Amino acid sequence: MTNHFLDIHKTDPQALRQMIDQARTMKTARAGRPKGAPDDEQPLKDRIVALIFEKPSTRTRVSFDVGVRQMGGETLVLSGSEMQLGHGETIADTARVLSRYVDLIMIRTFEEQTLLEMAEYATVPVINGLTNRTHPCQIMADVLTFEEHRGPIAGRKVVWCGDGNNVCASWLHAAGEFGFDLTFTGPPTLDPEDEFVGLARSKGATITIERDPDKAVEGADLVIADTWVSMHDSQSSRERRHNQLRPYQVNEALMAKAKPDALFMHCLPAHRDDEVTSAVMDGPHSVIFDEAENRLHAQKAVLRWCLGV
Ligand code: CP
Ligand code: NVA
Repeated sequence: MTNHFLDIHKTDPQALRQMIDQARTMKTARAGRPKGAPDDEQPLKDRIVALIFEKPSTRTRVSFDVGVRQMGGETLVLSGSEMQLGHGETIADTARVLSRYVDLIMIRTFEEQTLLEMAEYATVPVINGLTNRTHPCQIMADVLTFEEHRGPIAGRKVVWCGDGNNVCASWLHAAGEFGFDLTFTGPPTLDPEDEFVGLARSKGATITIERDPDKAVEGADLVIADTWVSMHDSQSSRERRHNQLRPYQVNEALMAKAKPDALFMHCLPAHRDDEVTSAVMDGPHSVIFDEAENRLHAQKAVLRWCLGV
């Protein structure tokens, strides 16, 4: 069976835990080394990884590329529009062809169906680098970040402020698998999908929808924001979204209502002084750049799990 990493809730919880722990061990092992220095172990030696982007990216692109190289492998960074994929070749044929050349495919795309078809027809592992619906690699890095700062995430209170988008969806999946509680605060028009809320609840997580952001963050161990307009959202929805989401901005007044040692996270890129103020981003609660760094370490563990190395 091929180990695809398509979503957190589709991955065995024991494997998820092992990946987080391995990421931490690997991060510690290379502390203080130059970024280009190889890891002591070279589990991806002689492996080639294709990184396909149909949307822009800074963190995902660079962290996967660097991570593969640190583990001894090589990458091909491909833009969807420059491939035949962007000019009418089917996803299924692309998956079958790429599987003849590379050992693993990471794809960032629009429709979830593209990712699922790639995984169905590829004979090598496929990793979800973000779709309109989910962003599991981000949340692996975020769980690692939380645990580095505050210990086990199980049983903690996590609060999502704003749009119930793709990153929020993967947080809901993680609530079910890692056993923490998640409160969503945002306007009813931008609620997370019922399916994902139900899934997390069915796995025993307490998921709360609270319209009042001040009440929502009471007792929070972690407060999270994300952009109000995602890459797949139409620009024509921008003004409406801003108007609906403005009451859910994370600012110092809101952070003051969470636990005194609450962390603040944002997957980045951020729109300073829209969804979060600069004072919070650069303030004492913020761990946003640790999150960005941990994309590298968490994904290295995901790559190893996918390849069984
Ligand atoms: N957080 C994240 O995925 O960033 P990029 O869009 O820069 O990859
Ligand atoms: N929700 C954002 C996340 C970017 C990493 C988007 O999809 O654009």
